[in-house]
Amino acid sequence: MKITIAKSETEFFQTAAERIVAQMVRKRDAVVGLATGRTTKGIHAAVCDMHRQSPFDVSKVTVFAMDEVTNVPREYAGSCYTLILTQIVTPLGIPAENFIMPPTRSDDWAAEARLFEQRLAARGGVDLQVLGIGEDGHLGFNQPGTPFDSTCWHSRMDRELEARIRRETQTPDNAVLGGITVGIKNIMESRKIVLAANGSRKARIIAAALKGPVTPDVPASVLQLHHDCEVILDPAAADYLP
Ligand code: GLP
Repeated sequence: MKITIAKSETEFFQTAAERIVAQMVRKRDAVVGLATGRTTKGIHAAVCDMHRQSPFDVSKVTVFAMDEVTNVPREYAGSCYTLILTQIVTPLGIPAENFIMPPTRSDDWAAEARLFEQRLAARGGVDLQVLGIGEDGHLGFNQPGTPFDSTCWHSRMDRELEARIRRETQTPDNAVLGGITVGIKNIMESRKIVLAANGSRKARIIAAALKGPVTPDVPASVLQLHHDCEVILDPAAADYLP
């Protein structure tokens, strides 16, 4: 694992954005997996700034979000579809057919999971997967305990996120919320991975994931086994590293 510690939060967003831009410029038909959350929002904004300042061709680039909230309307402001659409796809002008997402509603999640994987495989697999990390070490919706050989699947949601989405979408308590996510095995098959984490609330889990044992209890620890993974941190998130 390569660990890059930025000097400031601004430099952190910029550095992670440079990795995305570099991939899209290096390979015109790159397949780039994105993640949603507070971390990647700033990264996506920096990508858009770079594209505005010196435009590059994205007509052949494919993007997808590694996960999606399920059983909410796709148009909900917090769906991964809407977030990636507004933060990256629309500002950069990526063609709609090159934005690959699972649906938010389905009565056959196993079939949706297979289809999502097939659509990515049909484009040659993932060149760059960008990841955020949950405070418990989760990647996408792969919560602690998810086996390392998991492929795309429909998972449960962590409590904090579930409570927020329930509030925002006025979803009643008896309706189940979940998440469809690429599995740990899919993530590990990406040719390159960038994990980005900022802020002091990530410091403890970053130390555990990077320097602790490789275990499904800390899903992000699996990245220690990847051949081309860069972890980009701001100073606060790097605080507990030895
Ligand atoms: C959610 C997403 C993850 C993301 C994580 C971190 O759980 N499903 O893909 O990495 O949040 O979010 P944040 O960047 O807001 O800390």
